[in-house]
Amino acid sequence: MNKALTLVAKGILGAYNFLIPGEKYTENDDAELTEIRQFARKRTDISDHLATLYKEALAVQPKVIVELGVRTGASTFALSRAAEKTDAWLISLDMEPTVFHSDYEKWRFILADDIEFAKFFPEFADKTGFDPPIDFLFIDTSHTYDHTRTEIEAWLPYLGPAGTMIFHDTNMKTIFRRKDGSLGGGWNNKRGVIRAVQEFLQADWDESHEYQGMHNGFSVHHIPTCSGLTILRQKSGA
Ligand SMILES: C[S@@+](CC[C@H](N)C(=O)[O-])C[C@H]1O[C@@H](n2cnc3c(N)ncnc32)[C@H](O)[C@@H]1O
Repeated sequence: MNKALTLVAKGILGAYNFLIPGEKYTENDDAELTEIRQFARKRTDISDHLATLYKEALAVQPKVIVELGVRTGASTFALSRAAEKTDAWLISLDMEPTVFHSDYEKWRFILADDIEFAKFFPEFADKTGFDPPIDFLFIDTSHTYDHTRTEIEAWLPYLGPAGTMIFHDTNMKTIFRRKDGSLGGGWNNKRGVIRAVQEFLQADWDESHEYQGMHNGFSVHHIPTCSGLTILRQKSGA
């Protein structure tokens, strides 16, 4: 799409989205969740999922959270609140620098390729002062099939026995829909992430719909909105 067309498309999406009211807060929200919901009022390609990331991270009472793919730190914003609340380490990695910053003393930003860094993760954990099992792993990087497969191979061995692993962009589309009905612009990744995740799980559901099931030892919850989020909980009965 050329620049003028992209601007027109963005203008149309913006005008359409303006007519849709934002999400209301619920009475059970803690201060952090309220803050995250406020942050998520800015509609992005991940805004639907920030509260879910926070709640799923808290659910495993993590000691170690690893996030692959930071960009400007929307997911990091949510995960840093979960880490602070549970006194967990939060390791955020991206191959590009980020403008995000946190004063939380157990937050580390790693500037590296995620596959390369995986080889040194146990050494890094040892030097930093924590044990390597990862309680919560969030993957949101290249969105491509080959890379997602390699990420699963490289990082799965570090996932703790009751750990949760979450993938974003498991329902990528040129135009995606959020849960409030608003629309956003994405790109066609040829089902790269969902294909790799489903192959790993030996499962085959329609990613354009919500789905729950047990596969390959994981309790799976797939949320189709906002480019898709797929949650793999290792904890049985979760
Ligand atoms: C979609 S953005 C991440 C969005 C972020 N989670 C958020 O909430 O805003 C994807 C990021 O993955 C990073 N990335 C892509 N391939 C990578 C790789 N092989 N290793 C590390 N980071 C990578 C990119 O630099 C980019 O910042």
